[in-house]
Amino acid sequence: MASSASVSVLFLLVSSLMVAAHAGNFNQEFDITWGDGRGKMLNNGQLLTLSLDKASGSGFQSKNEYLFGKIDMQLKLVPGNSAGTVTAYYLSSKGSNWDEIDFEFLGNLSGDPYILHTNVFSQGKGNREQQFYLWFDPTADFHTYSILWNPQRIIFSVDGTPIREFKNSESIGVPFPKNQAMRIYSSLWNADDWATRGGLVKTDWSKAPFTASYRNFKADACVWSSGKSSCPSSSSSTTTSSWLSQQLDTTAQERLRWVQKNYMIYNYCTDAKRFPQGLPPECKAS
Ligand SMILES: *[C@@H]1O[C@H](CO)[C@@H](O)[C@H](O)[C@H]1NC(C)=O
Repeated sequence: MASSASVSVLFLLVSSLMVAAHAGNFNQEFDITWGDGRGKMLNNGQLLTLSLDKASGSGFQSKNEYLFGKIDMQLKLVPGNSAGTVTAYYLSSKGSNWDEIDFEFLGNLSGDPYILHTNVFSQGKGNREQQFYLWFDPTADFHTYSILWNPQRIIFSVDGTPIREFKNSESIGVPFPKNQAMRIYSSLWNADDWATRGGLVKTDWSKAPFTASYRNFKADACVWSSGKSSCPSSSSSTTTSSWLSQQLDTTAQERLRWVQKNYMIYNYCTDAKRFPQGLPPECKAS
């Protein structure tokens, strides 16, 4: 008995050491940038939480800048009555001609669906919104939200299922984000003037503080530092990672169509009223 007890103690010790060695560490990868203590790194950097109350929201950003990558994060969104709250999770460069790849989660009354809002900016121009409901309750547990960004395409995925693809359409004159390094940002803030049912439902501050949680950050990415990429140049492509040229295979394309058919609630590419001069050129291409 004594020996089996010590064996399991040893096993516990070894397995906890292994977990520590493999999990992404928020302390090493991110800085809490605002919110005056409302953003927290917990459990030795295994967990990060942002909170929002009437006085302020909070936010964090990556220490690294990236130029292309496959970036996964698990999020668990504000539970209960989250109306009026927005949890933004995105990549962005700097300056007036910035590039940006956005996930934004728009809260709702208890039991009513969150909206997952996506957008892509290139050289300061966005207006490329697509919005979705999710096929699960994003507040009940952690789910993985991924951005694959390579020179040919941007793919947004949820738990490995692609929900949106933005292809490089430079050949028809549409700028594509590929020359500006981006940081990862996230923030939890109040936008009850527009977020929930277009601003009809306001935040119930008696439910504050509102909290969103993050874990298991993983980046297979090219880190950009002092004007150089950590990835080998394309000429030495034998060592280039597969995500740098990854595209959707037929199964993934079917999954994407399933999401777009059943869960997409807004697509700028079908909003003819909004673009009286004609839909943006990339809409015809994809
Ligand atoms: C909130 O719930 C309402 C009612 O089901 C729905 O129309 C709306 O799209 C949901 N999401 C947001 C963010 O407003």
